[in-house]
Amino acid sequence: MNDSATLESAQYPATRDGLAEALQAIDQGYLWLDDKLTVRGNNQAYCKLLRLEDDHQLIGQPYWDVLKLLLKRGEFFDSGDDVSFIAESLRSMRRRESRRFERVRPNGTVLRIATAPLPSGGYVHTCLDITHESRALEDIRRNAKATVVAMANFSEHRDTYAGIHVLRVARLVGQTAWQLYRRGLFPAIVDEDFIDQVSTASILHDVGKIATPDRILFKAGPLTEEERTSVKLHAAAGAKMLRQASLMVPDSRYLQVGAEIALTHHEWFDGTGYPQGLAGEDIPISGRICALADVFDTLTSRRPYKTPWSTERAVMQVHRQAGSQFDPLVAEVFLEVVQRCETVSLVQWSEAMSVGHLHIDEQHRILIDTINQLASAESQSDRPAIAMIIDELISYTAFHFNFEEQLMEDAGYPELESHRRTHQGFVKRVQELREEFIYYRRRQLGERILGVLRDWLREHILGEDQAYRPYIGGLE
Ligand SMILES: [Fe+2]
Ligand SMILES: [Fe+2]
Ligand SMILES: [Fe+2]
Repeated sequence: MNDSATLESAQYPATRDGLAEALQAIDQGYLWLDDKLTVRGNNQAYCKLLRLEDDHQLIGQPYWDVLKLLLKRGEFFDSGDDVSFIAESLRSMRRRESRRFERVRPNGTVLRIATAPLPSGGYVHTCLDITHESRALEDIRRNAKATVVAMANFSEHRDTYAGIHVLRVARLVGQTAWQLYRRGLFPAIVDEDFIDQVSTASILHDVGKIATPDRILFKAGPLTEEERTSVKLHAAAGAKMLRQASLMVPDSRYLQVGAEIALTHHEWFDGTGYPQGLAGEDIPISGRICALADVFDTLTSRRPYKTPWSTERAVMQVHRQAGSQFDPLVAEVFLEVVQRCETVSLVQWSEAMSVGHLHIDEQHRILIDTINQLASAESQSDRPAIAMIIDELISYTAFHFNFEEQLMEDAGYPELESHRRTHQGFVKRVQELREEFIYYRRRQLGERILGVLRDWLREHILGEDQAYRPYIGGLE
């Protein structure tokens, strides 16, 4: 025993120095404060992470002075009201509370910050650069969502035409869930996790249509009784597929909620829906919300068998069906969401925008509508909605540009290549904007960016798109 103690002290004669050396060597920044919040120690990593290398002598300085310096440099500019953010940090230290949070810095890097009171007085404050982990996690989420969207498109439409349908349904479902949450409705179920899960899960509501034959799915006229029965099978088929998939990832709530939605999104509140004829509270809330979003978006979109309805007409229909098809309370909240989506109009469709082609004109109207929805979400600082509408914009422009380019190619339009390049430039720009919005965890896009999108769209439709007009006449 004595021997080993001697050996230890021989190898580590100065534990304190060793510890200080070790603290200098790690890549986690640390700052040691005393009870009066004066800096008593720090390591190089702390200075490096916060770019304080040139202000070397932190020791002996009041912590508040360090914060003031960082504040002056704009370090906390995206933390809401930066002064109150700092005041709250200091308050919690004075109360000797532990804190742990993540903060995105002005340069886009992400820090995990922790503050803990020390047993003998004073505090330790640590920060670690977790930019890589944070982006990897975001990429996993995005990959999962992209896969889910691809699955949904493949089964329901077997092309990308209605990619925007599933994304819009997902957004309306997410926004409705948020609004239910804000109003404190269904508190036992609707919490922040639910909002997140239900939105992605709803993308898969019609995944069971993979089993519906093409001749029925794409039929332009009304369906026969037998065909209708065949379509109805998609609800149970989708639920079965998703339940099976969820067995592989038992922790994945969104696959379980997805199965629940697939099974119940055609149930009616009065019990006359399918496949189980559930009524009222027996229908899961996820299914009740998705029923509204699905019907509403289908009504306002073009389908092989119908022209798009105006928003006003679709709103009337929801009113009419509240209590029979839809849960009246969820319908009321849903209509509040629809109304909020229409609050800002950045671009308006005008006849001068027409290129004389029914489908292109309609696609341009949808693009204009999408930009206006983005502006409405922006005006309400609705961050999740902004992120989802940017996805819709990317997905829909990709579809529209393809459609337009194919038409120009068929018409032998001589400027096709340069037109294609402007399209590519726009997609790239929106993708970059999305990256920045997501990675920097912005709360808003900002007026300048919205202005750029608005101007690009308006000028492109009124300018470059008009140039191919004479070539595509007669190509419907
Ligand atoms: Fe369905
Ligand atoms: Fe174009
Ligand atoms: Fe266009």
